[in-house]
Amino acid sequence: MFNRNSPCWCGSGKKWKKCHAPELPTATEDLLAKRYLKTYGILLKNEKQITGIRKACHLASHILDETCKKAIAGVTTQELNDFAHKMHLEAKAIPAPLGYGEPPFPKSICTSLNEVICHGIPDNRPLQDGDILNVDVTCILDGFYGDCSRMVMIGQVSEEKKKVVATSHECLMRAIAILKPGVLVCEVGKAIEDYATSQGCSVVNLFVGHGVGVGFHEPPQVPHHYNTVKIPFVEGMTFTIEPMINAGVRSGYIDSKDHWTARTNDGKPSAQWEHTLLITKTGCEILTPWVNG
Ligand code: MF3
Ligand code: CO
Ligand code: CO
Repeated sequence: MFNRNSPCWCGSGKKWKKCHAPELPTATEDLLAKRYLKTYGILLKNEKQITGIRKACHLASHILDETCKKAIAGVTTQELNDFAHKMHLEAKAIPAPLGYGEPPFPKSICTSLNEVICHGIPDNRPLQDGDILNVDVTCILDGFYGDCSRMVMIGQVSEEKKKVVATSHECLMRAIAILKPGVLVCEVGKAIEDYATSQGCSVVNLFVGHGVGVGFHEPPQVPHHYNTVKIPFVEGMTFTIEPMINAGVRSGYIDSKDHWTARTNDGKPSAQWEHTLLITKTGCEILTPWVNG
């Protein structure tokens, strides 16, 4: 798990807390921020941080939109990766996946096809008519993170694939619709699993949404399945919701060769949509709005 003693993302070799880590709330008047940090490890963001996170998020959703436009039959996921990588560099941003984790993720975006649940690695397989593809972009801009993903359908796809794509999108939107201060983290999982199961689909419980903004994966974890996490959302929280919805069984496994690619156990299709969100006074702001879809 990434923490304040982890090496900084900027490659300085210094600990994150001695390098790009944000100032922690110290003002005694900010009791809620202090309590959230102490009790849950959750950093509530101040105005300056929110401005930076919003910029990173807008860049991520822009790169995602442009990359998805290129996703047509015959194009390889490696070509999509190279295109997205170049867009990061042109914007003076860093693609957060590249070199992230253990073993280091080898590419700049994740591309997850068909039965791949998430963390697919771009390669030289051309997209084919009938594929469904998730593209996941996370960029670091001026030290702030934005994380989002969406689905693309290539040509004519099966009814089963159409159903997981539509269901996972609706799961994300239903979860976003309930967000406001005071709502509990566990209510997200309830909104998602209630709807997914009503459609005959299952909810992946191997991966979760997460705090994001000054780090890639911050507390809290935001499960998409039924759970009992009683943390209330409060103003200034930034996090993702990214439901992975399967046409068949919920269970999956991680590729033993690359240690990243997660596939469904039954080989049936899986789909995912992801936004970075900010809790506001009265509801939430989608920090990664996309133009198409
Ligand atoms: N972007 C993914 C998420 O939504 C994480 C990818 S981790 C990576 O949390 F190393 F594969 F990039
Ligand atoms: Co995420
Ligand atoms: Co993501």
